[in-house]
Amino acid sequence: MSGTTRIVLSSDHAAISMRGAIAAHIAAQGFEVTDIGPTTPESTPYPQHGEAAARHVADGHSDLGIIICGTGQGIMMAANKVKGIRCGACSDTFSARMIRQHNDANMIALGARVVAEGLALDIVDAFLKARFEGGRHATRVDMIKAIEG
Ligand code: RB5
Repeated sequence: MSGTTRIVLSSDHAAISMRGAIAAHIAAQGFEVTDIGPTTPESTPYPQHGEAAARHVADGHSDLGIIICGTGQGIMMAANKVKGIRCGACSDTFSARMIRQHNDANMIALGARVVAEGLALDIVDAFLKARFEGGRHATRVDMIKAIEG
């Protein structure tokens, strides 16, 4: 990935505060951040926010996406329905690193009701620092892409 990496962020109502903390954390590292909300705490369905961030990445407006809901699971499921998206829900730094190294993930999902903010920032750092290893892993990622048709 050359130049400034562009990252889109979104969440549902369960993760407004965590999303803000992550946005500030990665902006301070020089990443180009697009936060597509929501900004108010009213209940709002996670599928629409997962899809919106996923389309931002799939359409080439961002390189990577970070999405957050209560568990990280629902918003991850929605994002993965968008063609070209490979998103993993992570609660640990090892998985966050591996989904890029082996699976070439272009999005990560977090659960604001699962991990505390400090761990969430470490998970994001692990994801952003890792690089896809290619080789035999590229063959397997190609197999995932083939399932999409
Ligand atoms: C919202 O209450 C909650 O269901 C949502 O944030 C998420 O955990 C869904 O997967």
